[in-house]
Amino acid sequence: MKMKMIQKLTLAAAVASLAMATAFLPAGSARASAEGPELHEVDWSFNGPFGTFDRSQLRRGYKVYKEVCATCHSMQYVHFRNLGEPGGPEFTGPEVKALAAGYQVQDGPDLSGDMFERPGEGKDVFPAPYANEEAAAASLGAYPPDLSLVAKSRVGGPDYIHALMIGYTEAPADVTVPAGGYYNPYFTAGSGIIAMPPPLSDGQVDYDDGTPNTAEQMSQDVSAFLMWTAEPKLEARHRLGFQVMAYLLALAGILFFATRKIWADQH
Ligand code: HEC
Repeated sequence: MKMKMIQKLTLAAAVASLAMATAFLPAGSARASAEGPELHEVDWSFNGPFGTFDRSQLRRGYKVYKEVCATCHSMQYVHFRNLGEPGGPEFTGPEVKALAAGYQVQDGPDLSGDMFERPGEGKDVFPAPYANEEAAAASLGAYPPDLSLVAKSRVGGPDYIHALMIGYTEAPADVTVPAGGYYNPYFTAGSGIIAMPPPLSDGQVDYDDGTPNTAEQMSQDVSAFLMWTAEPKLEARHRLGFQVMAYLLALAGILFFATRKIWADQH
């Protein structure tokens, strides 16, 4: 009786390991809600359990953020040094230094109690374009959310951002777009009315790696970049997930065959 019990427990452990291993397989990223047009699912390089970021894409996406989105949106959780860390755009040390120094950041107070501006350094976060939410909303009609984590806080993540960037259309006849507003059916939070003007058009940002700078391409690149800012440890997580999965699968196999061998004569 006791033997049977142990046999069952070992088998149960094997089954549990197998189940846990399969839990590491990715779930589909399709938008769950039925609202708004269906999102086109981009074949991102970071999809799937082995996915990694495309360094060149992240660098282009950074350029799009810097030259276009940063006029209105902050990115307050990203430090310049992050741009040089493994798993991201991996700019070199001198590149990070130079691009940080291209920004003026506020520091202080100095010995006389005054705040002052100085060139950015690796330890600084990206300076925000507006002093506060109210100032941004007053000038743009609505508050442009901080972009650091937006790829994780919207259903559909990078697919949503990609669709939003290039999804502007004429409003249907029964929808009145207020002054200062635009129509974008993907912006379900505002029933299609959005205060952000269409941010990307063909040829807007000069790419230096020869990639065609179409609005479609820039939209994908900036979405991939924002996926990285929202989940900078994605590659490490994928690596760990794979190791745990391999371990659990091996464990399930060992337990299964051990059970069979040990109990072969007991029936
Ligand atoms: C001219 C200013 C401006 C520029 C440039 C701009 N945005 Fe926006 N963005 C806004 C405003 C304002 C909102 C808030 C819209 C609203 O609530 O109606 C917004 C909202 C968003 C949202 C949130 C949508 C949601 O679901 O809440 C995302 C994502 C976004 N912008 C991404 C970008 C990206 C990426 C770029 C650069 C390619 C960019 N924006 C460029 C002003 C701008």
